[in-house]
Amino acid sequence: MKVDILLGLQWGDEGKGKVVDVLTPRYDVVARFQGGPNAGHTLEFEGQKYVLRSIPSGIFQGDKVNIIGNGVVLDPALFKAEAESLEASGHDLKKRLHISKKAHLILPTHRILDAAYEAAKGDAKVGTTGKGIGPTYTDKISRNGVRVGDILHDFEKKYAAAKARHEQILKSLNYIYDLTELEKAWMEGIEYLKQFPLVDSEHEVNGLLRDGKSVLCEGAQGTMLDIDFGSYPFVTSSNTICAGACTGLGIAPNKIGDVYGIFKAYCTRVGAGPFPTELFDETGDKIGALGHEFGAVTGRKRRCGWIDLVALKYSVMINGVTKLIMMKSDVLDTFETIKACVAYKMNGEEIDHFPYDITEGVEPVYVELPGWQTDMTKMQSEDEFPEEFNAYLTFLEEQLEVPIKIVSVGPDREQTIERYTEE
Ligand code: GDP
Ligand code: IMO
Ligand code: MG
Repeated sequence: MKVDILLGLQWGDEGKGKVVDVLTPRYDVVARFQGGPNAGHTLEFEGQKYVLRSIPSGIFQGDKVNIIGNGVVLDPALFKAEAESLEASGHDLKKRLHISKKAHLILPTHRILDAAYEAAKGDAKVGTTGKGIGPTYTDKISRNGVRVGDILHDFEKKYAAAKARHEQILKSLNYIYDLTELEKAWMEGIEYLKQFPLVDSEHEVNGLLRDGKSVLCEGAQGTMLDIDFGSYPFVTSSNTICAGACTGLGIAPNKIGDVYGIFKAYCTRVGAGPFPTELFDETGDKIGALGHEFGAVTGRKRRCGWIDLVALKYSVMINGVTKLIMMKSDVLDTFETIKACVAYKMNGEEIDHFPYDITEGVEPVYVELPGWQTDMTKMQSEDEFPEEFNAYLTFLEEQLEVPIKIVSVGPDREQTIERYTEE
């Protein structure tokens, strides 16, 4: 068997959590491969809303095993809070949530370093989620990290060494902080973590595939936030792309099956950094209000704009997307016209490839399409789609050269329509 991968094609928050939950019944196992509690994946069903940060979004479907892979960075305190709140609502996790021993731990001092580095950047700050993501991946790459597996062996010593190193850096930055509360909750989190199966997830995943079991890999963030291919330096610190599933779970490239690329019918971004199609007018405000565009983790207002097909084509290429999923089309239900950016104007020249730098001087070139002006939120099948909506889908498919297989028309699990059109 091969693994399928579902990942974001824009700047995150495309609706990955919702769709992973919808697709989970078709798989035996769901696995996260990168990122950490910077993610906020929202799921809605039976009148309940859940936001997952570190736990994979397959956790609500029956007794499916969910895996936190080696590419993930884990904060034990936040993990404990998240897992306990799920357990309080009746979901038993302890046996079916497996955690890689090779996943790196986010230390309390990583969170403080995140804040200190951001403060030091002044106006150039990234607008991180403040969860210690950058400093934890930095320690991983510079071979100074503490891993989940370390909590079983010589932990006190490893923790103390990492903490001492961080405190030295914080001192050199003259950064004032108080560790007491953070550290207390974190140590409780470490004890809590020991109740879960701590595994060699690369062996587990490959064993599952050998046994004919199916695995869905769930990406966090989005391609435009990828450390290599995103809008650097306004990115996260992991590989959010398809290849991240190989390194973040120990899967060989020839074991990859379908790559589901997920995007909003428009575009959003939270935090700082370039966003060529951003709208600063009432249309942007309208998208934000109708789409409830506020961060699932930080509550920050998301910046809104039209769909950017230059960036999307790039994402499709980098990930080898085989199936597209379009989210939040209902948010555009009342628009008379819809715009789509098909090229950038840079230095007086029109380009349709994603350039090295989009920080300055990028002017989007738009085409305008008629809106469908129909409430789509209760639709059950593609047979009900208005003509203008079908025209929008066809236009996007022609531009991106990949079929749109699923359309989401609302936040609930049920508001999901599969398309059975020929590939
Ligand atoms: P993720 O990080 O990719 O999982 O996405 P988030 O959960 O951060 O953000 C997506 C938001 O849109 C959440 O509030 C979802 O409940 C909501 N959502 C998902 N799909 C749809 C949809 O088709 N229509 C609407 N209106 N909301 C949606
Ligand atoms: P999900 O999985 C949207 C953004 C932050 C910031 C940048 C770096 O819910 O789609 P970090 O804390 O990772 O160092 O922040 O990345 N960011 C996200 N934006 N969705 C996310 O995750 C994000 N995770 C990080 O806002 O601009
Ligand atoms: Mg999110």
